[in-house]
Amino acid sequence: MHIGLIGPGRMALNLAHGWLKTGHSIQFGSRQPQARTHILSDVPGATIASNAETLQTAEIVVLAIPFVAVAPFARQYASLLSNKLVIDISNPFQHLPDNRISGPEITAQAIGMGARVVAAFKATFWETLLEPVSPHTDTVRDVFYVGDDRADKEIVAQLIKDLGFNPVDCGPLRNARILDGMVPLLLELDRRYGSDAHRLSWKLLG
Ligand SMILES: NC(=O)c1ccc[n+]([C@@H]2O[C@H](COP(=O)([O-])OP(=O)(O)OC[C@H]3O[C@@H](n4cnc5c(N)ncnc54)[C@H](OP(=O)(O)O)[C@@H]3O)[C@@H](O)[C@H]2O)c1
Repeated sequence: MHIGLIGPGRMALNLAHGWLKTGHSIQFGSRQPQARTHILSDVPGATIASNAETLQTAEIVVLAIPFVAVAPFARQYASLLSNKLVIDISNPFQHLPDNRISGPEITAQAIGMGARVVAAFKATFWETLLEPVSPHTDTVRDVFYVGDDRADKEIVAQLIKDLGFNPVDCGPLRNARILDGMVPLLLELDRRYGSDAHRLSWKLLG
C-alpha cells in the first residue's frame, strides 16, 4: 500500500524501514521537505514531500507528529483526511483536556465527517520498532490498536504483522482512553525495571 508518514521523526523512520521491507511504498510528509531530504539516504525507496502533497496521494496516513499538533493538523487538512484511513500514534500525556475523551477521538472530531481513525503503536517505543521479537524473552511484542471500523482495523492489523509484531484488537476507538494512560505507566515501569532504555512492551498472555 502507499503509506504517507506525516512527521519524518523517529517513529516515522522506523515504521518506514519495516514497511519498505514488506513491499509498501512510503512517502514522508514534512513542513520543510527540502530541509529533510537527508533522511532518505537511510530509507532507500522512500520519498518526501510537503504534508499536503503527501496526503493527496497516500492510501493510508500515519500521523507521527506531536499530540498538540495533531488536532490543528487534522482540522487544517480535514478535506484530505476525510474518508481515508488515518493511523494516530500520538500520545497526549498531560495535554488531554480531561479523562472523558482520548487523543484519537479528538483527532476524529477534528477531521469531522468521514473520519476513519485507528489508533496504534502508542505504547511501542521507537527503539523497539525494529525489534519486534524481544531478544531477552524471544517473545513477539504486541501492538495494541483500537478503532470503530472492522475493515480498517483489519488493514491496520496486517500492517502491524508486516512489521513482525502481534496485533491485539483492543476494541472501539473510545478504548484509546485506556491506551492513552498505558503509555505513561509503561514509562514509569521502564524507569523502575527497564533501566530507562525504552525496551519494554505490554504483552497480553493467555
Ligand atoms: N518516540 C516514541 O517512542 C513514541 C512511541 C509511540 C508513539 N509516539 C508518538 O509518535 C509521535 C511522533 O513521535 P516521535 O518520537 O517520532 O517524534 P519526533 O522524532 O520529534 O518527530 C516528530 C515529527 O513531527 C513533525 N512536527 C513537529 N511539530 C509539528 C507541528 N507542530 N506540526 C506538524 N508537524 C510537526 C516534525 O517534522 P517536520 O518538522 O519535518 O514537519 C518531526 O520530525 C508523537 O505523537 C509521539 O507521542 C512516540
